[in-house]
Amino acid sequence: MTMIRKYLIISAAFLVLFGCQDQAPTESVSSVDVVDAKWWKEGIIYQIYPRSFKDTDGDGVGDLRGVIEELDYIKSLGVTMVWMNPFFQSPNVDNGYDVSDYRAIQPEFGTMADFDEMLKGLHDRGIGFVLDVVVNHSSNQHEWFKQSRSSRDNPYRDYYHWWNADKGKPNYRYSLFDEKGDAWKYDSLSDAYYLHYFAQEQPDLNWENPKVRQEVYDIMKFWAEKGVDGFRLDAFQYVSKDTTFPLLPEGFEKDVIKYYGMGPNLHQYLREMYDEVLSQYDVFAVSEGVGSTFQDAHDLVDADRNELQLAYHFQGMDVGNSLNSYTLDEFRNVYTKWDSAFAEKGWLSIFLANHDVPRMVSKFGNDSPEFRAASSKMLNTFILSMRGTPYCYFGDELGMTNIYFKSIDQYQDIAAINGYKKAMSEGQDMDVYLETLSLLSRDNGRTPMQWNGSDHAGFTQGTPWLPVNENYTDINQEKEDKDPLSVLNFFRKMTRLRNENPVLVYGDYKLLAETHPTVYAYTRTLGDVQMLVLLNFSETNSKLQLPELESVAKIVINNYDDVLIGDDSIQLQPYQAVIFEIK
Ligand code: NOJ
Repeated sequence: MTMIRKYLIISAAFLVLFGCQDQAPTESVSSVDVVDAKWWKEGIIYQIYPRSFKDTDGDGVGDLRGVIEELDYIKSLGVTMVWMNPFFQSPNVDNGYDVSDYRAIQPEFGTMADFDEMLKGLHDRGIGFVLDVVVNHSSNQHEWFKQSRSSRDNPYRDYYHWWNADKGKPNYRYSLFDEKGDAWKYDSLSDAYYLHYFAQEQPDLNWENPKVRQEVYDIMKFWAEKGVDGFRLDAFQYVSKDTTFPLLPEGFEKDVIKYYGMGPNLHQYLREMYDEVLSQYDVFAVSEGVGSTFQDAHDLVDADRNELQLAYHFQGMDVGNSLNSYTLDEFRNVYTKWDSAFAEKGWLSIFLANHDVPRMVSKFGNDSPEFRAASSKMLNTFILSMRGTPYCYFGDELGMTNIYFKSIDQYQDIAAINGYKKAMSEGQDMDVYLETLSLLSRDNGRTPMQWNGSDHAGFTQGTPWLPVNENYTDINQEKEDKDPLSVLNFFRKMTRLRNENPVLVYGDYKLLAETHPTVYAYTRTLGDVQMLVLLNFSETNSKLQLPELESVAKIVINNYDDVLIGDDSIQLQPYQAVIFEIK
């Protein structure tokens, strides 16, 4: 008996009788017993990298008016919040993560009037706004730093971490972006070293100084008064430091989070921030990074502790960070482990990409023309069917792919450029280095949004700051909008499904078929509503036996036209993603 004959084929026609994927689900939050329901748990965040979203003035850099032009598009995605990377005044050493004025808009992005109009446009459409707060460090062009470095007795001296050279060299600290890897930069002006965990143009602010903390709270209030709905706290796990800067064990830089994260007074500062800012407005805050243990992560977001509301961990992003790709086991274990740690208390974020990593489909799916669409849809199904607030990175709703630069001259990112110099000086194998960079560099995820098939994908009339991926004539928003089977239209169905089904937000997660080599299977259960999610992570057909399949009531979403299902078994097609409702 052939496979096709053995399995019942649920075709599109059959689905009409059986319950089809476009059927509006019926549950509502009020009909189920949800403890601690919160709007920010129920939301879907769309992340916009403003440099790369849409340019309206021809300078090759995206701007706020570009976002304003696309507000209806953003609304059409079914997302409920926008997180935008920094758009404050900045010398742009690290694309805005080096802020020189926290209350001013970077001129290439527009004006404060543009910001106000954009925020209103989002709010008018029922979409919240999440501000990126970059306060582990500022730019070295910030007035605070200019003052601070001017002399040892300047009132701003203690806004940053200085180590006077008369005390000798400070103990080694590793810098993530420095070309020598050294986080202490000597400044002859006052014969002292200052600390920079990132680039030397990004000096670390001294959070142990109460005046610095008050400055930050005032900045957050300034934006909260304007109406922002959330804060994403950049590199926040690093802010509190032991200012004696003790000697760290050799090789500590291989586990920076352990040695830099969750400094001595971090929780105290967060409670202060909560009292001063977060509790005063209907806002939430999410920290980038959660320390290195579940306890750390819990303590940050435990509602009873009044610190943060959400956090995101890096372990999901660490999967697949090598030339050898990753295994489904690693992937599934990370998400299962983190879900179970937060099953009773606390809340996490779910994401597969952002501006610091490669494109989702290139890293976790398959970006070949044959499988790009199916695997993008499958990965979006994952993000939008897990517990935790989902973050969807701009362009992933289209299935945009890595650009795969080959030569170091093509890169714009300081992490890539300085990392290359460091690797060279250490005598590393530069071919391997470039190959790794090509797969994993941050610029892969920063190429301009592909709006249409015209020049530069309709992103700009000028020369884009980073080249547009050549595949834009095939992968673009205009084309996908018209195609009912596109990645984009599947994404819209999937956000609708999540928005209308509290089980996908609050439901318990249970892993099934724990060791299946290619299929990630789980249920989400809330009260008497249960959904079964099946994701084929491979480019071949995958068979799976599951008792739950006997109780399938209807298909709620499917990235293929059909499902090959038997009594208690199913054959999934390459990168197929199906969600069933279970009786
Ligand atoms: C994390 C941000 O996501 C990244 O883009 C930036 O380079 C570093 N923090 C430093 O601000």
